[in-house]
Amino acid sequence: MKYFTTAVVMTAVMGIPGASLAQEKTFRVGLITPQVHVWNQEVDAMGVTLGEMSGGRLAVTAFPSGQLGSEETMLQQLQTGALDMAWLTTAGLTVRVPDLAAIHAPFLVDNIADAAKVLRSDDAREILDALPAATGTVGLCYAMTGMRQIMAKNPMASAQDLDGLRFRITPAPPIQTFFEMFGAAPAPMPLTQVYDALANGQIDAIDMDHESILNFGYHDHAKHMLETNHQMFGMVALVSGRVWATLSDEDKKIVQDAAQKHCDQTVDRFVSEEDSKLERLKAVEGLTITENVGPEFFGDIVTRWDAEWSDKTPYVARLRELTKSF
Ligand code: BEZ
Repeated sequence: MKYFTTAVVMTAVMGIPGASLAQEKTFRVGLITPQVHVWNQEVDAMGVTLGEMSGGRLAVTAFPSGQLGSEETMLQQLQTGALDMAWLTTAGLTVRVPDLAAIHAPFLVDNIADAAKVLRSDDAREILDALPAATGTVGLCYAMTGMRQIMAKNPMASAQDLDGLRFRITPAPPIQTFFEMFGAAPAPMPLTQVYDALANGQIDAIDMDHESILNFGYHDHAKHMLETNHQMFGMVALVSGRVWATLSDEDKKIVQDAAQKHCDQTVDRFVSEEDSKLERLKAVEGLTITENVGPEFFGDIVTRWDAEWSDKTPYVARLRELTKSF
């Protein structure tokens, strides 16, 4: 009789669409950034939040520093369901989702607080709708790693000094366009290879955010920095579409809410810590920083970049329009 009752209950549960037995799951989360990076700290904190919200059923195991491969490799793993989640740069995703190039429009915003407003806008949120078809992933939320600056081995008094430099860039078409437009020779390579490439002279210059400069110590081998704030560097918290489809509605909400909480915390931390990170860089012995380098340093590049990328995505015009109201 007891067996009969259990069987009836099981049949009833399995027969109701959307109903499921509470599932235990540890999400494998991949990142290109090292354990000290704010993203990694927030992914670990997201694991704690997931545990709290699910009564201990849901957890996270993080794989930092590109342990699972490049961002493109992690994206392929998300697509097959071999990886559950990843916090990937908006830059890396532009190969599959050209609309995300608008986030990387040069000098789209004047400061990091406005970058946060863009990432929290409905326009930016709408771009995430393209992810399932283009990448087999679900985009849960945006965050960022601050604004990008330029660092080189030699002094840079004008844009002519950037001409012909071998510039490491994050592999991403809109970033490549920007660097080609001022005559640099872009060398796309993953974050994990940048320090050694600078140390052994394979590259002359990089563009990078305060957080990563401090984490890796790029100033060991690039002693000149232009504080350009020439683009924001966004991040999207992704979950594999295949994995997402296996979650109950209740767990989807928990995952969405936990990710949003830690995306928001990440953005808030970058906004509030950006200036103090610059102060820490100013204290680095031997590092020369030229502040307040504006778009005029790059001549007419903003106009030319917009002309090229506006043909590829309407979001360049939309985000430029949005930022006029800031
Ligand atoms: C980069 O490719 O430069 C990068 C990626 C993730 C975080 C910070 C920097």
